[in-house]
Amino acid sequence: MSRHQPPDLDRFGERTRLVHLGRDPSEQHGFVNTPIYRGSTVLYPDTETFNARKGRYTYGTQGTPTRESLERAWSGLSGAADTVLSPSGLAAVTVALLTCCEAGSHLLVPDSVYRPTRIFCDGFLARFGVETTYYDPLVGAGIRDLFRPNTKAVFTEAPGSQTFEMQDVPAIAEAAHAWGACVLMDNTWATPLLFPPHERGVDLAIEAGTKYLSGGSDLLLGLTSANAAWAKRLRETYNQLSILAGPEDCFLGLRGLRTMRLRLREHEAQAIEMARWFADRPEVARVLHPALPSDPGHALWRRDFKGASGLFSIVLKAASPAALAAMVDGLELFGIGASWGGFESLVLPFDPSAYRTVTRWEAEGPALRFHIGLEDLDDLKRDLDAGFARLRATT
Ligand SMILES: Cc1ncc(COP(=O)(O)O)c(C=O)c1O
Repeated sequence: MSRHQPPDLDRFGERTRLVHLGRDPSEQHGFVNTPIYRGSTVLYPDTETFNARKGRYTYGTQGTPTRESLERAWSGLSGAADTVLSPSGLAAVTVALLTCCEAGSHLLVPDSVYRPTRIFCDGFLARFGVETTYYDPLVGAGIRDLFRPNTKAVFTEAPGSQTFEMQDVPAIAEAAHAWGACVLMDNTWATPLLFPPHERGVDLAIEAGTKYLSGGSDLLLGLTSANAAWAKRLRETYNQLSILAGPEDCFLGLRGLRTMRLRLREHEAQAIEMARWFADRPEVARVLHPALPSDPGHALWRRDFKGASGLFSIVLKAASPAALAAMVDGLELFGIGASWGGFESLVLPFDPSAYRTVTRWEAEGPALRFHIGLEDLDDLKRDLDAGFARLRATT
């Protein structure tokens, strides 16, 4: 065995595995990283090999060393049997849903789901004969009351998009499996480092690699991983759809993977401190962050999660749109942006009441979602202090 071949990684701790997962320098002339293989055609040595499609690589759509490196690495990190890579997080959601649904299926989706997932269910899936019922994300084992004979899948996302409801994923998974339904989870907030999805009963896990895997706001990437029961069906669906991540994007994903744990820990610490700071502000009615003991989802978070990432929300006390705009528009260090997971801090006003259908969004005032980046916290606090002063002055 070449001394550069990856060791039997299961023996090692998480940090060591993150360094070695998915790469084999002995296959890359000793270079540390798997390079960017661009390619469609793969040449075969003779007709016999071609007829049997015997080579390790057969055609660009069927896999390249770059894509495989990240697939293997993510499977290793997630405890998955297989992983497929798509050109965005939303594409990873759609690949997962198309893996487990068919015409005539009934699907259960939390009311707090990432909104484009809802749009896919209500639009594309409905057109192809899949019916979606939205459920209260806090339903827990009570999900069983919503099952119908044709319920094929239960989607979960914890915490919920923007509003941070914590879901009892193991209880939902147990009930769904007893019914014979597939369990999906959008695990983007925690990543497999903070919530090992397949260990907790998830069959198909989704990660928008656009966020923490990238860490740089310079990448669109989606990862869908499957346990042994669903791996074959996932791979078949992926190959038939052929919605493939490009080689540069896989390379950037691999690069991000090596430092994701360090960045996440920093985002976690920064965000928890900022969440506590917000909780003490007189202008703030509530902070929606499961790591705060005051959060309704705190007990579930402590039980099931190994940490928190850098994204949370606050609900302000009543304030006019003009006061909110004065606060947010004048912030110097918080960009107004829809994504998250990068090194920079972001803020986003939101109001889910327009599209939720089975739960009511009751808020004392306007709501803001924050992603806390890697800046100096004193600078962020000063920026927000000035923002709150503008809010008060305009109110
Ligand atoms: C929870 C969650 N899932 C999935 C996605 C989709 O990722 P992408 O923007 O790469 O399509 C996002 C993006 O904001 C998200 O917040």
